[in-house]
Amino acid sequence: MAYVYDAGREDAGRAGREALAAFGEVNALDPLTFPSVARLENDLVAWALDLVRGAPDAVGTVTSGGSETCILAVLAAREAWRTRGRSGRATIIVAETAHPAFIKAVHLLDMDVHVVPVERESMRLTSAAVASAIREVGDSAALVVVSAPSYPHGVVDDIESIASLSQDAGIACHVDGCIGGVVLGVARRMGMEVPAFDLSVPGVSSFGLDLHKYGFSPKGVSILLFADTTYRSGTYFAYSAWPGYPLVNTTLQSTKPAAPMAAAWATLAVLGTAGLDRAVTEALQATRHLADGIAGIPGIRVVGHPDATLIALTGDDVDPFRIADYMRERDWVLQPQPSLGDLPRTLHLTVQPVSLATVELFLTDLRAATEAAARDDWASAPEDLEAAFADLPDLTSGAGLPPRMAEVHALIDGLPSNVRDPALGAIFGALFTSRR
Ligand SMILES: Cc1ncc(COP(=O)(O)O)c(C=O)c1O
Repeated sequence: MAYVYDAGREDAGRAGREALAAFGEVNALDPLTFPSVARLENDLVAWALDLVRGAPDAVGTVTSGGSETCILAVLAAREAWRTRGRSGRATIIVAETAHPAFIKAVHLLDMDVHVVPVERESMRLTSAAVASAIREVGDSAALVVVSAPSYPHGVVDDIESIASLSQDAGIACHVDGCIGGVVLGVARRMGMEVPAFDLSVPGVSSFGLDLHKYGFSPKGVSILLFADTTYRSGTYFAYSAWPGYPLVNTTLQSTKPAAPMAAAWATLAVLGTAGLDRAVTEALQATRHLADGIAGIPGIRVVGHPDATLIALTGDDVDPFRIADYMRERDWVLQPQPSLGDLPRTLHLTVQPVSLATVELFLTDLRAATEAAARDDWASAPEDLEAAFADLPDLTSGAGLPPRMAEVHALIDGLPSNVRDPALGAIFGALFTSRR
């Protein structure tokens, strides 16, 4: 229940795969040589603008994924900030629950970030917290980021009031709808009540939504929408002072695979409005049943209130990491999320349309896994961290992970981030070492 988005429609899946193959050689770098790429991109952007109510002069860009969308949104805001005569380092204001792609953007673009705590009951970023952040950051504030919804807890921030504050302060406001934008847009189109979240909210300057998540398309496609062309122009890069072809890039890529775009186009065409409505309805129904079911299992609870199709569950006396292990033995993959200060350890559930068919089975297994975990101790970081690290499985051996991972997650959980982040990088460094 992470990373995978299955609408349960084999025909749509097949169309996506066939389009991937058919467009393997097409380069979206050059719409003059390959006119089909402009058509594909314009169709996808128009589809998205329709869904999230972009005004007539709204525009967009198709990117390679959520992170590229977030990074370009930060770049757009920085350039707009500079256009307003500011110089030096710009700052973005984000909730602690915002996706790390924004921290990565700041790292890449040499900017600063001001991280704001969310409200502890709802897990939402509130306008009161943003107001004090804007006061603190002052003139360097270039962007406020809000999520619709956040990945860790699946809740939508207080977008209307935060966007209005940003507008009054002359700061851009980006809505990260990478994971939930399609779900919320489709739900509203069907007449369901959803929180205000999109480009029609005054003050929202850009909006991201991924097609390779709840657009049910093969990986490699996301859309970044802008309220108008001024923001988008800051993300374009053109260069002709060399003896080669005059280069224009609309994203971080230069050669840009058209295949994911074509696959998304084909997937959406086969699903159609009715297919997408049905998929989103099923995912939302499954989410509601799962959240209700979790509330009925002693020892665990849902954190916040899921606004879309993501659930975070925690245990007050039962370790969520242990539950994940017992669920894995029953063939369910729940994603462990470490604690952060007073925010508890949780398990993340990305609920798919196909989850609806297995809600009862899932809840039966979750109840049993919770009962088993309740008999165990809480997994904690070992005293001897060095020995624990030495004991970590060697992923490069191809041997795979140990069946029980709670202690490994507890080790990660127990480390301060200044130690943890380099250690995680080192593990990946070891993993991606080619050995002859
Ligand atoms: C809210 C949100 N933003 C951004 C991203 C980054 O997307 P990607 O993994 O496609 O780069 C994710 C990924 O889950 C997300 O949930």
